Amino acid sequence: MALYSEKVMDHFRNPRNVGVIEDANGIGEVGNAKCGDIMKMYLKIEDDIIKDVKFETFGCGSAIASSSMATELIKGKPVADAMKLTNEAVAEALDGLPDYKMHCSVLAEEAIKNALDDYHKRCEEQQ
Ligand code: FES
Repeated sequence: MALYSEKVMDHFRNPRNVGVIEDANGIGEVGNAKCGDIMKMYLKIEDDIIKDVKFETFGCGSAIASSSMATELIKGKPVADAMKLTNEAVAEALDGLPDYKMHCSVLAEEAIKNALDDYHKRCEEQQ
């Protein structure tokens, strides 16, 4: 059996939603100290909906595929749904990751949660 699923390879080779959102209202950055990989998520939220999401990932293929899939899973969804995104859901949507690569999907979950925290903080500051 191939180490990586076709979906992982597809999202690694053709990552969706790569880039920066200049007027993002939620930004999250996380890193993994062990492997040194870094992931940054940009959210544009309007009326409680994730209107746009982009990412920059300096990391392994699984981290790039996980970021790409995670953005696809939350794009156009309500904030409440994005809050519930788990790394298991990201890995499942990729048709699985090897056990020792599951931490790459954790990075995607954490980056999105950080970006949502940042969004909520900005909302509070405006009140
Ligand atoms: Fe660290 Fe993939 S090896 S995120």
